[in-house]
Amino acid sequence: KGWFTENLHLYQDFWHESARVVSAVTVMASQDNFQAQPTDIYIATLQKSGTTWVKALSFAIINRTIYKTNSLSTHPLQILNPHRCVPFVEIEALHRLPTYVDGHSPRLFSTHMPYTSLPKSVLDNGCRIVYICRNPKDVLVSLFYYANRLRDKSIGQLTFEEAFEMFTKGVIPLGPYWDHVKGYYMAALERPKEILFLTYEDMQKDTVNNVKRLAEFLGYPFSKEEEDEGEVDKIVKLCSFETLKDVNKHGVVNKGFPNDVFFRKGKIGDWTNHLTDEMSQCLDEITKIKFDGLDISF
Ligand code: A3P
Repeated sequence: KGWFTENLHLYQDFWHESARVVSAVTVMASQDNFQAQPTDIYIATLQKSGTTWVKALSFAIINRTIYKTNSLSTHPLQILNPHRCVPFVEIEALHRLPTYVDGHSPRLFSTHMPYTSLPKSVLDNGCRIVYICRNPKDVLVSLFYYANRLRDKSIGQLTFEEAFEMFTKGVIPLGPYWDHVKGYYMAALERPKEILFLTYEDMQKDTVNNVKRLAEFLGYPFSKEEEDEGEVDKIVKLCSFETLKDVNKHGVVNKGFPNDVFFRKGKIGDWTNHLTDEMSQCLDEITKIKFDGLDISF
């Protein structure tokens, strides 16, 4: 536990080897220390794929009878960053913070671990997993800004070319991107009742229907009455980028991780402003090879 708090700052130089070591340690600690319960729900993602959004939505859906969405000022998501409402398994296993998981059932956690690295008890207990993936080009752009925001000023900023080079080689904590996505995609085909596979793009294009789908999967479907009362729309609004980005804007999730680092643009396609045609083609080629035969489109 001491090791994690002392070394968390290493994770801030996101693309450096030391950050990947911190990630590897958190995975090993999760495998050793974390005990899943059958009713647990896990939100699994690769960084920058929509973790914060799906955390907020899942939390709001599951807890909607406890925290009424019409008394918004007292709703936890109006006070706390979603990462404080839904903790990471990796951090939970090493350094516990008080969260809304305490005393609540089902327990809602998130993880960046690849499918094959999940603690055995998560898979053996048949826990439900929601996976969200995002266009690799937008993940790269989002990661690039995230990494530079977190980087210590003394080590300077990464260039986009450097970030691109690392990303295409698969060098990111808990990557490569393509293996991470494919791992959960294949698992979702095998275990459709336990794993829901979503994309950030579908969520953006049809938020309402995907929120309903998510609610059903989580075991908290919206009744006709709730739909008529606009409950789905209220949750969509509560968890929107525009609402969440201003919540406790100047606070921190964890030392060195300001709340606002998780909210940048919240749009599809910002990659068009950053990637050259050559870079874009290179990522298309890798994606074509790696996702050959998979029905994943962005
Ligand atoms: P951009 O950097 O492209 O803006 P993660 O939550 O996995 O760290 O991903 C962060 C990305 O999701 C960022 O993308 C961020 O702006 C976006 N995001 C955060 N909250 C969101 C929300 N409520 N709705 C849509 N996108 C959101």
